Amino acid sequence: MIKVNDNYAKLKESYLFYRIGQKVKAYKEAHPGEPVYRLGIGDVSLPLCDAAVKALHEAADDQGSAERFQGYTPEPGMPFFREAVADYYAGRGISLQTAEVFVSSGASDELGDILDLFSRESAACIMEPAYPAYLDANIMAGRKITTLSAGPENGFLPTPEENPDADLIYLCSPNNPTGAVYSREQLKKWVDWANARGAVILFDAAYEAFIEDDSLPHSIFEIEGARTCAIEICSLSKTAGFTGTRLGYTVIPMDLERGGMNLNAMWVRNRTTKTNGVSYIIQKGGAAVFTPEGQEQIRKNIHYYKNNARVLMDALDKAGIEYWGGKNAPYVWMRCPKGMGSWEFFDRMLNDIQVVGTPGEGFGPCGEGFFRLSAFGHADETKTAAERMYRLLESLK
Ligand code: MLT
Repeated sequence: MIKVNDNYAKLKESYLFYRIGQKVKAYKEAHPGEPVYRLGIGDVSLPLCDAAVKALHEAADDQGSAERFQGYTPEPGMPFFREAVADYYAGRGISLQTAEVFVSSGASDELGDILDLFSRESAACIMEPAYPAYLDANIMAGRKITTLSAGPENGFLPTPEENPDADLIYLCSPNNPTGAVYSREQLKKWVDWANARGAVILFDAAYEAFIEDDSLPHSIFEIEGARTCAIEICSLSKTAGFTGTRLGYTVIPMDLERGGMNLNAMWVRNRTTKTNGVSYIIQKGGAAVFTPEGQEQIRKNIHYYKNNARVLMDALDKAGIEYWGGKNAPYVWMRCPKGMGSWEFFDRMLNDIQVVGTPGEGFGPCGEGFFRLSAFGHADETKTAAERMYRLLESLK
């Protein structure tokens, strides 16, 4: 009899956003026609920017042209896409070879796939509350998992002084779900820790474009020493609305070596075996995001979402509720009122005011008592949801 991967038995019964989706579906079935305001999963509401749409159309035409048709694409990425990403980093003073940039079909896919580079005996450290895919991907792989707790006491930003026991550590900055952002000094401590220990940092930069405070780093590669200890995973999902289109990129420096092996070369070997590249059309659309025109257009969209975050924060201020994030991130992380549990507050929000958020407990046990609001909705719906939430919070006093 075949032996299946019984690590799956150690997973929670369903993935966080699937569970929320099921609860919302059940509510809608029981209350047909009633509007539901979605501040839950961080899915974007604005369409792709014009520059990306134009490039997608042109690339589709290329596929219908005998002269310009493109079959398989190079697995690590089309040169034009890798160059566009390297130029984007250069704009921030980070020098990358194009061969250090890999295309991906999105950060969440990549965060799981990249684990192929590390032995199952290597321990992974996850800072909780955390994006749940980090934990689930490591459980599926049967890896030893340790956690560091993030909370108001450490500004939701654990540091190596907390002595993590790990070979692989996840840093997400700006953080999902708390919106906390590491400073250069704090990241330097992590880089020094990883280099001294021979560990690897998996730096999730999916929300870097939401940083508005110039003193904060967007990339781990702004930190001296990161080229010998870090991999950066990024995505065009939140930055440019590619949640449905699927596109991301991963930076693995040539200098990153462990156990006498080069991780960049290993990833080339992995991608060339396990993928046939990412769609030419989508990479064309993605490259257009990095043009001056594309950057100007996506900045407007990010500004729109930041306004939503402001509307949510204003409602919480008015209700006297403590919260974090929202300024350099598209998520507002609030304390549940009256000491409520996070799923209890989720149910009150859904049943009483038809607003969907994300219970903090879904991001790990130390997220209990907190609740995440996403700023990715439509402005008018976010405004209505914020007004309803304010009234609910007042009624609970
Ligand atoms: C979230 O809501 O945390 C994210 O949208 C989920 C994701 O990016 O997969």
